[in-house]
Amino acid sequence: MVTNMKILQVINFNAWFGESHVLKDINLELEENSITGIIGPSGSGKTTIMRCLNRLNDSNSTYKYDGKIIFDGEDIYETKMPVHHLRQQIGMIFQVPCVFPKSIYGNMIFGLKNLKLMKKSEFPGAVEKALKAAHLFDEVKDRLHEDAKTLSVGQQQRLCIARALTVNPRVIMMDEPTSALDPKSTTAIEKLILELKDKVTLIVVTHNIEQAKRIADHVVFICDGRVVEQGEKNEFFTNPKKEETKEYIKWTRCECE
Ligand SMILES: Nc1ncnc2c1ncn2[C@@H]1O[C@H](COP(=O)(O)OP(=O)(O)OP(=O)(O)O)[C@@H](O)[C@H]1O
Ligand SMILES: [Mg+2]
Repeated sequence: MVTNMKILQVINFNAWFGESHVLKDINLELEENSITGIIGPSGSGKTTIMRCLNRLNDSNSTYKYDGKIIFDGEDIYETKMPVHHLRQQIGMIFQVPCVFPKSIYGNMIFGLKNLKLMKKSEFPGAVEKALKAAHLFDEVKDRLHEDAKTLSVGQQQRLCIARALTVNPRVIMMDEPTSALDPKSTTAIEKLILELKDKVTLIVVTHNIEQAKRIADHVVFICDGRVVEQGEKNEFFTNPKKEETKEYIKWTRCECE
């Protein structure tokens, strides 16, 4: 269900690493229970936007920013909310599945244990629910105590999504979540992303225009640190306004053929 409620707003946001100005006057608004697809060439700033939304650059002494990122009505850089609570509410899935060197079960309870969200006796139920939501339960239910690295890469990516779901995030960001996967695993993750929209708001970075067409509601095209164009998916792809957008769509189509 798409409502008009804005869960995340990025307002006149700029970011620098040292002298390098990598995000330039970014403005974005995310509606609750929607999927925003971010596309753009390599080095354009897609990952950096996500890292800023999760405050993953805070420990980098060369990082500077100005502007605002408002999550659920609060500025994430001004709020007293601890960073681990922000990351509980805004989860991130990386291009290469980031499983911890633990068992499948150990991965699944990691956030639950650290954030003390529930009693230990409730862990198994929460783990099962999240694994089922990520369509992984049947494949792992008899091997929960095996090393997570023994899973296939596609299963590892679904484990990362299931692990993110255990802590009830409001937003899940995915940075090229299927670029390391085969077509079957890609289809499984895309199906999962579309299902998750009922529960969470999603941001998905992709180099694959066809994937953006399949899953996104709203598309943002970023180039050289700037949002060149953004809009509702069908309008964006059928009637792009800017020459740069037209060129990029044409170029990526040629690359795929
Ligand atoms: N920690 C950092 N220190 C210095 N420069 C950085 C840092 N992180 C990113 N950059 C620079 O910021 C720019 C944007 O990088 P970013 O990783 O966001 O691009 P991207 O759009 O995700 O590219 P790709 O599609 O290749 O993943 C690049 O020029 C990159 O070199
Ligand atoms: Mg990137």
